[in-house]
Amino acid sequence: MALLSAESTITLNNGVEMPVLGLGVFLVPDDDATNAVNHALTEGGYRHIDTAKIYGNEVGVGEGIRRSGVAREDIFVTTKLWNADQGFESALAAVDGSLARLGLDYVDLYLIHWPMPKVGLQLESWHALERILEQGKARAIGVCNNSPIHLQELLDEADVVPAVNQIELHPHFPQYVTRAFDEYHGIVTESWSPLGGTPRDGLNGGKRENTLLHDPTIAAIAAKHGVSPAQVLIRWHLQNGLVVIPKSLNPDRISQNADVFGFELDGADIVAIDTLNSGVRGGAAPDDVNQ
Ligand code: A2P
Repeated sequence: MALLSAESTITLNNGVEMPVLGLGVFLVPDDDATNAVNHALTEGGYRHIDTAKIYGNEVGVGEGIRRSGVAREDIFVTTKLWNADQGFESALAAVDGSLARLGLDYVDLYLIHWPMPKVGLQLESWHALERILEQGKARAIGVCNNSPIHLQELLDEADVVPAVNQIELHPHFPQYVTRAFDEYHGIVTESWSPLGGTPRDGLNGGKRENTLLHDPTIAAIAAKHGVSPAQVLIRWHLQNGLVVIPKSLNPDRISQNADVFGFELDGADIVAIDTLNSGVRGGAAPDDVNQ
């Protein structure tokens, strides 16, 4: 994979080309999503947007795409099946709802948002996604938040191997085992919270902070290359062969996050970043999300 620009792609297991860098819009309000998506596509050079029904901004994302004037076929759009819509018929209806809100005839990638192992509907939902693929409403289908045990259960019964597994992944939580499992099965791993996540209120009144963007090791590498900590982190994902979807609401930071093709981390940088593995995730564990 030659990393030349935000248009650089990785080939999915069904031949579809997926840009390795995309804009994430988790926790971005609908109106802001229009501006962020429009800026990313027109000024930032992005060709990939990652949303989800539960983000509540599919309408704004669709508007941003249209406002940008970039041709639909040049943009890779992902959305996701929300938990409440799992099941065969409900998943078929849910994709139509997402397409209507986005104002699109198809998405490039449709993902199951959580496996919900205690509910046990991932396989049934997956068969709906296989139908959605067949109908041309998605060019590729995949899952999120699957650990190898969830994926193995799916692979045992699936007709189509997921193209992508989107999981929480950053230097504090590098997910070596799931990455190896994905790779063995030809599944592309995509990183959510790639910069360590958006600070927000957590469960039980706690606060979730982002310590990765302020980490001294990352700061030293950033200074060495004359780039920002976010750019170092994005480059780490790309050089690890991961698809990365940093989120930002701010036009300058959206542009900055796509300006990562003019420098390269060296072996010493990668080794130093790999020491930051704490084994601690910032978001929910897949087995704990069941509604
Ligand atoms: P903002 O939207 O104000 O730019 P993640 O993608 O891991 O969820 O991280 C998103 C968080 O990182 C958001 O709080 C976002 O804030 C912040 N962020 C995104 N890009 C940058 C950047 N280039 N520099 C500093 N902070 C950034």
